Amino acid sequence: MPVKMILDCDTGIDDAVAIAYAALHPGIELLGVGTVWGNVDVELATRNTLRVLDLVGRPDVPVARGADGPSNGGPAEFSLDVHGTDGQGGAGQDGTGEDRPVREAAPVTAARQIVELVRAHPGEVWLVPVGPLTNVAAALELDPELPALVAGVSLMGGSAAAPGNVTPVAEANVWHDPEAAAAVFDAPWPIVMAGLDVTMGALLTARHRDRLAASGEAGRYLAGILQHYGEFYRGRVFGEWVCCVHDAVAVAAAAGVLDVRLAPVVHVEVDVTDGPGRGQTVADLRGRYRGFPEQPGAHCRVLLEIDTGIVDEIVELIAAHRGPGEAP
Ligand code: RIB
Ligand code: CA
Repeated sequence: MPVKMILDCDTGIDDAVAIAYAALHPGIELLGVGTVWGNVDVELATRNTLRVLDLVGRPDVPVARGADGPSNGGPAEFSLDVHGTDGQGGAGQDGTGEDRPVREAAPVTAARQIVELVRAHPGEVWLVPVGPLTNVAAALELDPELPALVAGVSLMGGSAAAPGNVTPVAEANVWHDPEAAAAVFDAPWPIVMAGLDVTMGALLTARHRDRLAASGEAGRYLAGILQHYGEFYRGRVFGEWVCCVHDAVAVAAAAGVLDVRLAPVVHVEVDVTDGPGRGQTVADLRGRYRGFPEQPGAHCRVLLEIDTGIVDEIVELIAAHRGPGEAP
């Protein structure tokens, strides 16, 4: 049986890869996608999400617009240097250079869509938030029984032992809305945390990009938007053209197709202070040297080591896709 999934994205270049992967994977039933501010504003995130779903032939997947800023009412800060001013590396158009028309978003909020879809399939749905956790925290407020009604939450966010990517200790999705992240990590549902510990090693290389570029329309689109993202990583992080496909790792984990090598269940607390630790996910890894003994009450499985061969599978799945009328 395919895994029922709701994505929540701040689309974003790696979000676009994750959406395409989730939408095309035969083991995933993508029930809906919510959009949230983060990499870009929520309008752009919504538009980008709709476009990617259209490109992979999934106009049936409802897309619900969500929060436009952090839950504490503070200002929204975006990551345009990483993802480009259009959130798609400046290449978020079709091959003609024109903006591709996109359908309308669903007439509900992303938080409400989460509640309705989870209530329609109790015990079956994986929530996969890969942006700031504002919408998921709002869904918890709408329906405090949600934790007992989901299969789990597989999120891209945080870092247990790796450095942060916004501050020395904070990862972007948690940094953007630490209060929302704290509400999500504190709620009593099973969480899988795909944080920077593993996603910084999930690298899409120039060989992968070229494979996508030589495939169908969806693959060519992704190859185009990834160009900017890889340049960011070359200039600011790795010194070579590679892309961290952070968000697709959380999708693969929820779908049960990730080869997980080390992932203890530990307590995780989000720092919501205003000091230098703000946005840090403080994971209790003290059991590392004795095989991670059980921590009573802990409900967060923190991915520490995975098989990064998942990137080959993500690329192959997308590169194999052909839209109607495209030659195989
Ligand atoms: O820190 C990486 C995360 O921040 C990814 O989800 C990326 O898309 C951005 O949202
Ligand atoms: Ca994201």
